[in-house]
Amino acid sequence: MSAPLRKVVFPVAGLGTRFLPASKVVAKEMLPVLDKPLIQYAVDEAVDAGADTLVFVTNRYKHAIADYFDTAYELEQKLERSGKQELLAAVRGLIPKHVRCVYVTQSEALGLGHAVLCAKPVVGDEPFGVILPDDLIWNRGAGALRQMAQFAANAETGVIAVEEVPREETQKYGIVDADMTAGRAARVRHVVEKPKPEVAPSNLAIVGRYVLPGRIFELLEKTKPGAGGEIQLTDAIASLLREGEVHAFRFEGTRFDCGSKLGLVKATLHFALQDPALAQATRAFVAASS
Ligand code: UTP
Repeated sequence: MSAPLRKVVFPVAGLGTRFLPASKVVAKEMLPVLDKPLIQYAVDEAVDAGADTLVFVTNRYKHAIADYFDTAYELEQKLERSGKQELLAAVRGLIPKHVRCVYVTQSEALGLGHAVLCAKPVVGDEPFGVILPDDLIWNRGAGALRQMAQFAANAETGVIAVEEVPREETQKYGIVDADMTAGRAARVRHVVEKPKPEVAPSNLAIVGRYVLPGRIFELLEKTKPGAGGEIQLTDAIASLLREGEVHAFRFEGTRFDCGSKLGLVKATLHFALQDPALAQATRAFVAASS
């Protein structure tokens, strides 16, 4: 898989039931951590990895994501007229000029695997990245997807991001069987979606970053509904494993599960503590509240 990673897919067509009632009208990916929505952190990570084509798999209710990345003429004119250059640069610079956005619709929420399959006409037969924006990954150096793309290019392999989770939580994740004792990456022997703790092959959970070959689309087309009655990406990766290599990759960085309320709270606190303008007051508030 030596080609550079040009295309990144963002499956954002889920229902976001854990954020109801807000997610009735506010797409989960538009929830902010400080002043940026989750989707912006994901896009920044994709661009950092070298992507020039961003493929958003949305549903008919999620116009806000396309609106957010679109030009807001009225707002820009107002900011320009009032000399608010910094804010103007912030609303204009969401995506670099050389990067294009493509929107495809998943007409029914049939699962993550099905959402990724919807991107096939845009991605074609080349390696591509997948980012689930509700897994927000923070670090100071190269973003998680860039780390994975570099590894994939050198190892000529599909790569899935993994992280150790408490045993009792295996049922929330795709779980990987791989021997990670030797470093950041290891060949995956087996993957299984949402196993019960007693049958899980390990506590290494797949988190929302993938580098996959175009071949995955043909495998997704043959994938039957699995856990939860959904077409699971993990099941297609299991088929990919029968044909060749896939590596699990333990990225450098801290992941926040912003698909859950607690994860979003933790991310907000973390980013506030990183921000010189907010850190002191946030620390004081937390100390006084606990
Ligand atoms: P989740 O499992 O987090 O589901 O999906 P969800 O619907 O977004 O949220 P909850 O669990 O109901 O609160 C993981 C990722 O897969 C996408 C979601 O948008 C999210 O990025 N997804 C899931 C789709 O795009 N389509 C689907 O049919 C299912």
